[in-house]
Amino acid sequence: MIDIHTHIIHNCDDGSNSLELSIKQITNMIDKGVTDIVLTPHYMNSYVQTDAKIINKQFKELSEATADLKVNLHKGGEIFLNPGSNYKIDKELCIGDTSYILVETNMGEFTPGIYEILFKLVKKGLRPILAHPERYNYIMNNPEMAEDFMYRNVYLQVNAGSILGLYGSKIEKTVWQLIKSGFVHFLASDNHCRIDEYILPAAIEAIRDKIDDYTADLLTQVNPQKMLNNEKIEYFYLKEQKVEKKGFFENILRKL
Ligand SMILES: [Fe+2]
Repeated sequence: MIDIHTHIIHNCDDGSNSLELSIKQITNMIDKGVTDIVLTPHYMNSYVQTDAKIINKQFKELSEATADLKVNLHKGGEIFLNPGSNYKIDKELCIGDTSYILVETNMGEFTPGIYEILFKLVKKGLRPILAHPERYNYIMNNPEMAEDFMYRNVYLQVNAGSILGLYGSKIEKTVWQLIKSGFVHFLASDNHCRIDEYILPAAIEAIRDKIDDYTADLLTQVNPQKMLNNEKIEYFYLKEQKVEKKGFFENILRKL
């Protein structure tokens, strides 16, 4: 199990507020079967720490403190997309040595200019992953917009808490709709170290129950591993399956 969205680097954002808490959370995640954790502190204007030098220092401290634990830590960020942001979005903020970068938008209305920012990132060779689309009002009101992001070379990551109903019924309904439509590439915890319980395993089980093992593994193991290897992930995986099936029947008809 690989978790690609967490706020466990201490004293950077609204996640962990101490090195001890970070180590405790990581130990708990390892116990639940996590092998790789992507650390994604918020980059958001005047809200949290956005000085990459300080974040790098905290990451180094945490990596050294957990060096004996059986887990791989990868540094990334959760970059708030805003036409007026004061930080430069480039390779420095990508996950590990990959070209994948976790981004988020305003929770309410769609911000004009977002598609232009994403276009520039994709043109630079980056691969944006949109964090928790199911929590944005504009997606809840129009889930088809998730597909628009995919047509713009943006991957989608949903939260475990959404699947478990922790953010309310509308977000829960939206997340299942997105997963069933094939509009989701990753499932992650978005762990802010506020509760002791680590909820990703329960969300994976819910997907195994309601959908299938294939999807559960795809979103928490297969795609995250490809991402860490910096391999390309298919955007429209459900449609491609449908195309293959159509081809299969066409082949049979041709033989008759
Ligand atoms: Fe987050």
